[in-house]
Amino acid sequence: MRLPIIAGNWKMNNSISESIKLIEEIKNHVLDKGVEAVVCAPYTSLNEVKKALEGTDIRLGAQNMHWEESGAYTGEISPAMLKEIGVDYCIVGHSERRQYFNESDDTVNRKVRTALKYGIKPILCVGETLEEREAGEEEKVVKKQVLKALEDVKKDDIADVVIAYEPIWAIGTGKTASSDDANNMCNFIRNIIGNKYDEAAKERIRIQYGGSVKPNTIKELMAKEDVDGALVGGASLIAEDFVSLINY
Ligand code: PGA
Repeated sequence: MRLPIIAGNWKMNNSISESIKLIEEIKNHVLDKGVEAVVCAPYTSLNEVKKALEGTDIRLGAQNMHWEESGAYTGEISPAMLKEIGVDYCIVGHSERRQYFNESDDTVNRKVRTALKYGIKPILCVGETLEEREAGEEEKVVKKQVLKALEDVKKDDIADVVIAYEPIWAIGTGKTASSDDANNMCNFIRNIIGNKYDEAAKERIRIQYGGSVKPNTIKELMAKEDVDGALVGGASLIAEDFVSLINY
């Protein structure tokens, strides 16, 4: 059985004080222990959020990292820095980073490998644009992204990777993929893992859907066989919504 994973991606929202306030609100609720909850806070809040999460089962995630351990990379944050804070997860290759910050399949691959080296679990984001979907190319695009991102990732490490299928046209738009479309792509990705690694890897890897997931859509989504969780932007900023996603 795969442990469901619901991760909140706060993006460039929440100052330190706002972050703590949100965590305190979430802590007022009882969370389902059968679901792994993760909050991916901005760098500046990570340390304080880590402290605020003490005594809870909620995991901490970052939204990005550099692939080098240290060096002359002005403005960047290394995996070692994140590890020292106690970060468990790191989003890698989010479409906003690919789109606005020129992240390529190659840099995404380097980040995945470095994250694993440091014991940080990558939440690897893949997904097609609207044009690609309309051209019927979504599987081709996603397959390339997945295989390139996992180049030289060893079989022993693959169970620590979470893949988030996020069709770009569904992110922050209020448009969501149907639960069937989401499930079909998650199944497609699972088969790619099966072909690249083996049956055990295929069964173990967790695959999320992301893109305008809301409390009223989560239940149907999570009922699907190949959807193991959700990566959530907007709804993760509201304590009640995030809690109801976890307690779906
Ligand atoms: P959204 O964002 O839930 O606001 O669509 C999802 C994401 O970008 O991970």
